[in-house]
Formats: sequence, C-alpha cells, structure tokens
Amino acid sequence: MTTTQFDTIIDNIGQLLTMDHGDGPLKGGAMNSLPVLENAALAIKDGLVAWIGTHEDAQSMKATERIDAEGKLVSPGLVDPHTHLVFGGSREHEMALKQQGVPYLEILKRGGGILSTVGATREASEEELLTKARFHLNRMISYGVTTVEAKSGYGLDRQTELKQLKVAKQLNETHPAEIVSTFLGAHAIPPEFKGRSDEFLQEMLDLLNDIEKEQLAEFVDIFCETGVFSVEQSRQFLKAAKEKGFSVKIHADEIHPLGGTEMATEIGATSGDHLVGASDKGIAALGATDTIAVLLPGTSFYLNKGKFANARGMLEAGAAVALSTDFNPGSSPTENLQFIMNLASLQLKMTPEEIWNAVTVNSAYAINRGDSAGKLIKGRKADIVLWDVPNYHYVPYHYGVNHTNTVMKDGCIIYR
Ligand code: NIG
Ligand code: FE
Repeated sequence: MTTTQFDTIIDNIGQLLTMDHGDGPLKGGAMNSLPVLENAALAIKDGLVAWIGTHEDAQSMKATERIDAEGKLVSPGLVDPHTHLVFGGSREHEMALKQQGVPYLEILKRGGGILSTVGATREASEEELLTKARFHLNRMISYGVTTVEAKSGYGLDRQTELKQLKVAKQLNETHPAEIVSTFLGAHAIPPEFKGRSDEFLQEMLDLLNDIEKEQLAEFVDIFCETGVFSVEQSRQFLKAAKEKGFSVKIHADEIHPLGGTEMATEIGATSGDHLVGASDKGIAALGATDTIAVLLPGTSFYLNKGKFANARGMLEAGAAVALSTDFNPGSSPTENLQFIMNLASLQLKMTPEEIWNAVTVNSAYAINRGDSAGKLIKGRKADIVLWDVPNYHYVPYHYGVNHTNTVMKDGCIIYR
C-alpha cells in the first residue's frame, strides 16, 4: 500500500480507456482491440499519471483533490492530427456558391476558396491571428482535444507563412494545449506565381532554412491535387524537405484520384491525409508500410460529394488509420472531433474500438507524438477527458452535442 500524497485522484471510473497497447501505431485488425479497465481509479502527481488501479484500492489513498467520475467514461485527451488552425477571416459567403453546385476547386480557380483566406490572412496582424486561433483552439479543447497539429498555408509568401507559424509557436508556448506545427506553404499557387508553380515551390523550399533555424515547424505538407501541385512536384518537394530533416505529410487523393497515396508511402511520409480517392494499389501500400492514413470524413461530409475514404479497405489491408477534423475555413469548418467520430461510425463503418484508437494512439503517431500523447499509462502526461457518457460506445453514437464533462492537460483542468 502506497503512502504517496497524490495531487488528484479520479475515482469511480466506469470505464477507463488506457490505450495501453504497447509501442507503435495500431494497424489493421489490431485497431479493433481496446484496453478498458472497469471500476477503475487513476492518480495524478506533478502533471503525470502516477497510479492506475481499482476503485477499491483508491479508497485508502491520499490526494489533495478527489474527482468522482460517477461511474462514467474516462479517456486520454484526444489528438487532432490535421488542422488549419491559424487563418484570417471566414468563408460563409461561399455557401451560396456551394449550394448552386459550384465545385470546391472551381471556387479556388476563380480566386476564392483557399486564396480568399490567403488574402484575409495576409491582411491580419499577428495579434489578430493569435486571438482568433486561440478562440478556435479553446473550442477544440472543449470537445476533448489536448494535442493539435496546426498547418500554415494561408500566406503563400515568406512573411505571412512565417507569421502563421509564429502564431502557432506562441500558442504552443502560452496555451496549455500542445501544438505541433506543419509548414504548408505549398497549399495553393498564389496569383503572383500563376503559371509558375515550380518557381513557387522553390521559393517555399528556400523558406525551410528560416523555419528550421527558428524551429517553427516539424512537418512539411503539400496539397497534391488537380490544378494545384502534381504527384511529381509533390514527390520532389517532400523529398527535398525530408533531406532538410523535416518529417512529411501530404494532402493526397482528396478530390481526384491522382496516386498521391502510393507516392506518400514510397517516400516514407509519416501520414497521407484525406485519401478519399486512394487506389487499390495505394491502399495495399498503406498496409505494407508505416505511413498512417489520416482520414477526414468531416471534409467529405462538407464537400458533399457523396464519397468517403475506404476505411474498411484500408483496415483490411492492414493500414494504421487515424481520424481528424481537418478544421479549416473552407472544406471543414468544425472544431468538433466528436462529430468526426460519429461520421467515422456512420460513413466509414469503423467500430467504436477502431474509432477510439484512431483519435488517440494512431493520431498521436501521425504527428510524431506516439511516445508522449494518446495513452493513459504510468509516467505519461495526465491529459485526460472525463465524459458524461455511460460507456465508450456512446460517443460515436449520440451526435451533434458535446459529451465532455472535464478536460485536463498535464494534470490541470483546462475545461469544465
Ligand atoms: O484539407 N484541400 C486543401 N486544404 C484544406 C482546405 C483548405 C481550405 O479550403 O481553406 C483541406 O481540405
Ligand atoms: Fe487539410
């Protein structure tokens, strides 16, 4: 019996999702297992998980604060591995175009879409961007997310891309949530480089020296799509970024099936994201390699094309699947990762076990945080969500509302 004085004990936990699977992302059939402790308790000391055991054992233990989970669900803080968190303005004015059936890439071609947000982001001050990103981040946290990937990509010029990345860095330093930064300078071709996409990509590659010097991003990403960057351009760009020491990700096969999924696996990308149009060959390659499939069903829902990524095929092929909001002002304006869990259930036909693994363990690996986030095991950061639900099946089932009761980061309550 320990005599340690803990900071906090969370007691009377109906189901505790420890995600204690051992090392590495979960692939294929392994995603269907979920380590669950019933009638459990968890103790926190110095911001870390210090003890996990039964409700009975917890009764004799001492803590400064006790939280009664009332027999409900407790999970690790969720990890959102693909967001465009920092941007100026919004795009509600494009809704009418969408309703008229104008395609997403056509809006972009007309200078709207991503380029509309580029204009607003260039105009915004660092302070304005910071205030706005903090607002969206707080909302993400309210839905149970404690670790967030954040991309640049609404500057498309040196000054604004650095401004976005600096905002993400400041947020990471001043906000309790952890932010992992990705440079997405290759998100669209800005008007001043129209017809000169290779030159533009070179300009963005040159920026990597500054980004590395100031430690402004860990990942480099590119939008590989018809009318934006080709598979070959993307391959060369990401390979060059890898040579400079960055990990890489890719927006691949989001709208048109170009073969970006295969390419992502060939170059050893940490993740391939979207993958709605992934070919059978691409899906097989995901199963055979370590590239994580980050699926974004909120974007498929919002683009309203009636087609979702082939998650079941990917799981059968043995791939590691993660889930994300893709939070951005155009194709997925939502901070709500719980809604993505609902869509994964209904549209991707994923099981509750696969879904929970996809928003914790695998999403942490998708942003190189597999060793520090996404699990509740002794010695890990106490990033914890107390849910107002009776069991883990409930969150992917009951949609459109927020099920969190309390969200903790490093052992401190950041939302209740
Ligand atoms: O993941 N497709 C490229 N990027 C984002 C959308 C960005 C935007 O529309 O502002 C995406 O869908
Ligand atoms: Fe995206």
